[in-house]
Amino acid sequence: MARHLIGLLLGTEEDWPRAYERVVERLGPVEHGGERHELEVERVFNEPFDLRYRPRYDLVIDRLAWWYYVPREWLKKIALMDGVYLLNNPFTFQAMEKHSAYCAMIRLGLKVPETWLIPHKQPPANPRFLPTAERYNAPFDLEEIGARVGYPLYLKPFDGGQWVGVSRVESPEGLVRAYDESGERLMHLQRAVDGFEVFARSLSIGPETMVMRFEPDRPMHDRYQVDHDFLSPETGAEVVSISRLVNAFFGWEFNSCETIVKGGEAYPIDYANASPDVAITSLHYYFPWAIEALVRWTAFCALTGRQMRVSLDLEPYFELADRDDLTYDEKLRGYRELADAYFQAEEYEHFSEGALPHLHEVVVEYAAGDDLDTLLVETVQETFPAHEHERFVAHFRGLLGSWVRDQG
Ligand SMILES: Nc1ncnc2c1ncn2[C@@H]1O[C@H](COP(=O)(O)OP(=O)(O)O)[C@@H](O)[C@H]1O
Ligand SMILES: [Mg+2]
Repeated sequence: MARHLIGLLLGTEEDWPRAYERVVERLGPVEHGGERHELEVERVFNEPFDLRYRPRYDLVIDRLAWWYYVPREWLKKIALMDGVYLLNNPFTFQAMEKHSAYCAMIRLGLKVPETWLIPHKQPPANPRFLPTAERYNAPFDLEEIGARVGYPLYLKPFDGGQWVGVSRVESPEGLVRAYDESGERLMHLQRAVDGFEVFARSLSIGPETMVMRFEPDRPMHDRYQVDHDFLSPETGAEVVSISRLVNAFFGWEFNSCETIVKGGEAYPIDYANASPDVAITSLHYYFPWAIEALVRWTAFCALTGRQMRVSLDLEPYFELADRDDLTYDEKLRGYRELADAYFQAEEYEHFSEGALPHLHEVVVEYAAGDDLDTLLVETVQETFPAHEHERFVAHFRGLLGSWVRDQG
């Protein structure tokens, strides 16, 4: 029996990790390539480490390194020295956040709204700054840049996440105020895509993507809408292709993306979330899908010995981007082929059918049973004030129940 140890590098979240552990347990041993395989899951502890030690993990799902640097450095070590497979690649996710994703997408011909980067309001507290800036920082007129980008616009951190420091700005006075408040953060100005038809949030895990209708202005628990036909088939496919493209381009495997659809055009606005929201109280109906996809993709990587690529191979994308004879749609089809090849989409499908034919049933049973219900109740109790527990448990139970019924 081949054993594969999967490490979960976690913060305080308890919902998806426990669901993942339970589903893997229920899945049991798996046949692949004429051999029996067993997946084991363990939570990772942060501790001092000898740079030469050999970790026991085959694969690690990272949810912590985006803000805590002890595990971040541990991930770099196990990626560089031990070939451990990581969701996500710590090198590209930390070096290349939102700003790089915008640059890449613009380079590839995607419809990123007009976006500018401006120097900090409060520059770095380094004694070198002032003499350097006196020599080399060109003065700039913020209002003129605002006028070029056009109102309304968004002023938001270049590496943002979780809406921190994001302001919507309607006027030059508002821009000056928001910039003053931005302090030490490095900011983008981005033209607003207003009066849109739909806001789509897609969650991607390996070569699987779920595109969900999202209402960004509602409270957290009510943002993801259960709506299966909110995009035309063409736009739905376009959003999936853009998500897969960005992920394959940067070697990201567990990421969420935001696309605004207006006048039938897809405008990507947020494409780099190293630790995407998978809370049961956010995803609700889609939560079992996410757990299933995560188990399937991690099983595929571990059992087939897929190698994580630390380096990137961007030229094939640039070659397509630079072809003057191709339309946007043709380029997107080309990118999709590259991205599918990167994620081994075809092998993945064969693997799912051959090695994991029972996974979906396991997840449906789990979602219908007491185990997940207990997890839901506990998560609601931790997330919401006491007087809302009953209402939210009923609400999410209803949504999870309707997912189970929809599976036939
Ligand atoms: N260009 C834009 N047009 C319209 N809405 C935007 C735009 N940029 C940001 N927003 C709104 O602000 C929210 C937060 O911005 P986003 O870029 O997603 O930052 P974060 O990385 O913090 O999630 C988005 O979910 C969206 O509702
Ligand atoms: Mg966002």
